[in-house]
Amino acid sequence: MKDISCKLLVIGAGPGGYVCAIRAGQLGIDTVIVEEKRPGGTCLNVGCIPSKAIIHAADEFNIATEASRGASPVGISLSSPAIDLKKTIAWKDNIVGRLTTGVAGLLKKAKVKSVEGRARFRDGKTVEVETSTGTQIIRAENIVIATGSQSVELPNLPFGGKVMSSTEALALTKLPEKIAVIGAGYIGLELGTAFAKLGARVTVVEALDRILPLYDKELVRPVEKRLGELGIELLLSAKAKGLSGTGALLVETAGAEQKIEADAILVTVGRKPATENWGREELVLDMDGRFVRIDDQCRTSMRGVFAIGDVTGEPMLAHRAMAQGEMVAEIVAGHKRNWDKVAIPAVCFTDPEIVSVGLSPEQAKAAGREIRSAQFPFTANGRAMSMAGEAGFVRVVARADNHLVLGIQAVGRGVSELSAAFGLALEMGARLEDIAGTIHAHPTQGEALQEAALRTLGHALHI
Ligand code: NAI
Repeated sequence: MKDISCKLLVIGAGPGGYVCAIRAGQLGIDTVIVEEKRPGGTCLNVGCIPSKAIIHAADEFNIATEASRGASPVGISLSSPAIDLKKTIAWKDNIVGRLTTGVAGLLKKAKVKSVEGRARFRDGKTVEVETSTGTQIIRAENIVIATGSQSVELPNLPFGGKVMSSTEALALTKLPEKIAVIGAGYIGLELGTAFAKLGARVTVVEALDRILPLYDKELVRPVEKRLGELGIELLLSAKAKGLSGTGALLVETAGAEQKIEADAILVTVGRKPATENWGREELVLDMDGRFVRIDDQCRTSMRGVFAIGDVTGEPMLAHRAMAQGEMVAEIVAGHKRNWDKVAIPAVCFTDPEIVSVGLSPEQAKAAGREIRSAQFPFTANGRAMSMAGEAGFVRVVARADNHLVLGIQAVGRGVSELSAAFGLALEMGARLEDIAGTIHAHPTQGEALQEAALRTLGHALHI
């Protein structure tokens, strides 16, 4: 097989890698991307997208189920709704297929060469790829490591059989009757909620004394309440220990041991950077704990070797990887770029959804800021009321002196879409007066942002 030489080689076609390659191609850079599975990475294939599809299906089914119990707030009644999980999974797979095919098409359009197989560094300029037709050698002036992350496995509960990661959970064609979820973080609560809505009995086991440790208690409260309404059992300060002889989950709580009977055990205790099995030992890369160390241009400690996405640190979010990928492509093209983002939005697709951009009041105070902060509840927002989505609020955090907005958070039905406005406000350096002085369309949930800014200024109109 003839060796390939190129200006840019990207290892991994997840959101970070494929965006980097597309942008590089647009800039006329001779680019090769290597991926051993389908393009799109964890996010498109077994993460963000399929989970959102399952969450949506579960929401629709839950609305129907509540209506069948006479609990529809809008007066719908129907009898015995059913869901065919095989069809749901086929629908989800179709969405994933369309998106991954779309990414392959975008790479092609940008004239990026795709090589299928597992890449391994020989040295800082050379990579070998095991393809189905033999070993392909690729030499590149610049190489981007975009290898992503993997689910963390618990040593005493290895994946296999009924112990599964989110990947297997998203492919279930038969709903287990009882599901134990280990970890009340992003994945555990997003999927645990969806499975409960589909009709499973869900128990969530969390080692800490609270759920969603990344978000402050006020933001999490409406989610906790909803978990209770959905009948999800929450075991806090509880550590999963392993399986009993009969296959029950052993959980340690305050010195005592409990057995939880479950047909499926979903382990969602975090993700770890994929730093092995691609020849890291052939390179001299400085590490930052378990992550590859990068500077503000995503350069590693080796000249011409960049790293982006989950392999480089927290937050392990697709949109951070995409922004890094786009920046690196421009740097390789000779543009002056460095990481100057004010904020990376975080969204949790629980019920209700949570959004956080920038600093929470506690974080701002801990950073030594004098702040002003207020929240506007959705109980006073007409659009939220008309969608039966009154739980939650929008909260604004600003500097006390010049009113520069430092953070915006929200919890409520569908608030993930407000993350665009929140992010824009922070990135543009908005002051409270800018948000308060912007006409927000009525009736929309976005008005709660304007009202939260007005309330922080001391003169909200609708409360
Ligand atoms: P996570 O870090 O969000 O939560 C893991 C939880 O497991 C923690 O609360 C931890 O205390 C608990 N835990 C650890 N060991 C335990 C044990 N032995 N017994 C009981 N509890 C234990 O991790 P998760 O949910 O797996 O998500 C991984 C990453 O994936 C996230 O950090 C995020 O970067 C990404 N993600 C992002 C989403 C989004 O943006 N909406 C959705 C899903 C995942």
